Amino acid sequence: METYDLTIRGGRVALPGALVACDVGVRDGRIVALAERLSPGKRDIDAAGRLVLPGGVDGHCHFDQPTGDGSRMADDFLTGTRSALFGGTTTIIPFAAQIRGQSLRAAVDDYHARASGKAMIDHAFHLIVTDPTPDVLERELPALIAEGYTSFKIYMTYDDLKLSDRQILDVLSVARDHGAMVMVHAENADCIAWLTDRLEAEGRTAPIFHAAARPKVIEREATHRAISFSELVDVPILIVHVSGAEAMEEIRRAQGRGVSLHAETCPQYLFLSEDDLTGPGFEGAKCICSPPPREAANRAAIWQGLATGVFSIVSSDHAPFRFDDPAGKKLKGEDASFRWVPNGIPGVETRLPLLFAGVVEGRIDLDRFVDLTATGPAKMYGLHPRKGVIAVGSDADLVIWDARAPVTIAQVDLHSACDYTPYEGITVPAWPEIVVQRGEVLAERGHLFAEPGQGRFLPCDRPAPARPLGARRPSGLFRAEEA
Ligand code: URP
Ligand code: ZN
Ligand code: ZN
Repeated sequence: METYDLTIRGGRVALPGALVACDVGVRDGRIVALAERLSPGKRDIDAAGRLVLPGGVDGHCHFDQPTGDGSRMADDFLTGTRSALFGGTTTIIPFAAQIRGQSLRAAVDDYHARASGKAMIDHAFHLIVTDPTPDVLERELPALIAEGYTSFKIYMTYDDLKLSDRQILDVLSVARDHGAMVMVHAENADCIAWLTDRLEAEGRTAPIFHAAARPKVIEREATHRAISFSELVDVPILIVHVSGAEAMEEIRRAQGRGVSLHAETCPQYLFLSEDDLTGPGFEGAKCICSPPPREAANRAAIWQGLATGVFSIVSSDHAPFRFDDPAGKKLKGEDASFRWVPNGIPGVETRLPLLFAGVVEGRIDLDRFVDLTATGPAKMYGLHPRKGVIAVGSDADLVIWDARAPVTIAQVDLHSACDYTPYEGITVPAWPEIVVQRGEVLAERGHLFAEPGQGRFLPCDRPAPARPLGARRPSGLFRAEEA
C-alpha cells in the first residue's frame, strides 16, 4: 500500500477548472495523488465540509525595501512572510530595488541577505530598475534574467524611481530580446508635481488631497502611454495596481485590438475609497497609497474588470509603514503635507480573505478567484506548474478554508509588524484555517509552525513570449523581413 506523508481527506478541492470532492496525497513535499479515496498518510487532515485551494501567490508586495526618504518599512522577511502565511499565501514575490548609482547585482545580493534566515515561505524576486545604464541594459539585466530574475518593475512617477520615456523604451527592448515581464507603475509624474504644488499653495495639504493630486486622468494618460510603448517595441507588459475605471478602459480597449497586455489590481481598489483618506486628524494618511483609492462608485467597475477578464492577477501591493511612527506615516509630523507621507498600505494577510468575499457575494466565481490569486500570478512570473495549482507533481502548497464562520478583520488578530490595517472592521465570510507549504503544516487555526529561514528562493522561468523571440511584428521601427 502506498504511504503518503500527508493526506488531506474529504474536502472539496479546487482542481484546474473544477471543484472536485477528493483526497490529496502528498509525498516529499509534492502532490502525488488526487483520488476519491486514498490510503491513510503519516498524518491525515480531515477537510470535510471545507474547501481546499492552492496556496496563494502574491506577485506584488514590498518587504524590507530600502526607501529614499528616511522612512522604514514595517515588515522584514520574517514578519512579512508570517503575515502572508496566516492569510493563506505560500509564495511571495517582493522587489530587489536598485538605488540609483547602484548595480542591479548589488541590489539583488543585498535583498538575498535581507531574506536569508528570515523568510518562512517560498519567494522569488522581481527587480526594480531605476538606473538603466548601458551596463545594466547590456550586461546585468540579461545575466539576471538568465538566472531567474525574469520580471522587473519600472516607474513613471516618484522622483527617485521614475524613468524617462526613452529609458522605458530601452528597458522594454531588453525585455523583448531576453524574454522578461515588465511591470509598469503608470502615473504621470509631471502632472502629479504640478497638481501637488498648486494644492499646497492653496493650503490643501491634508491626506485627502493625495487623491486630488493623483486623479484618474493622470493614471489613464500614463497607462495609455505605457501601452503605446509596449506596442511600439512589441513586447507584452503588465500594468500594476490599476485603480481607476478610465485606466482599466484603456487596457480593455488595447486588449480588444489584440495587444498582448496584462493588468493587475489590488484589494484596496475593491474595498477602500477616497473617503478613507479623510477621518479625524491625520488618520487618512493610513490609506495613502498610489494610485489612490477612487470614489466609491469606481469599485464596481474594477469588480467588473475582474469578472470579465481584463485583470489576470490580484496582488496585495503590501507596502507597510507604521502609522504612529516617525519612520512611518508621520515621517514629517502629524500635520505634514500629503506630499511627505510614505506611500503604501499593509495588505498581504487580508488579500485572499477580502477577495474571497467577492466569491461568496457572486461577483467572481471560485475558479476565477483561484486564477487571480494563485494560478495567474504563478503563470505570469514563470513559477507554474510548480506553484499556483493543485495537480500531481506540483508543490503541495495548500490552504484549507473555513467558510463556516465570518471573521471581522481586526489589527490585533493580524501578524504584520504594521500597527494598523486599513480594513479594520470589515467582515469577511471565510479565512484560511490550515496552511500547508511543500507538505508541511505551517499555520493552523492561529498557531504558527513555520521556522524563520525555511522558505526557499525560487528562480523564475521566462514568461511565455507572445510571439517567438526574434519574430518581431512588422512596424515602422523594425524591418518587415524580421517579422
Ligand atoms: O503606494 C504604493 N503603492 N506604494 C508601494 C510602491 C508602489 O508603487 O507599488
Ligand atoms: Zn507601484
Ligand atoms: Zn508596489
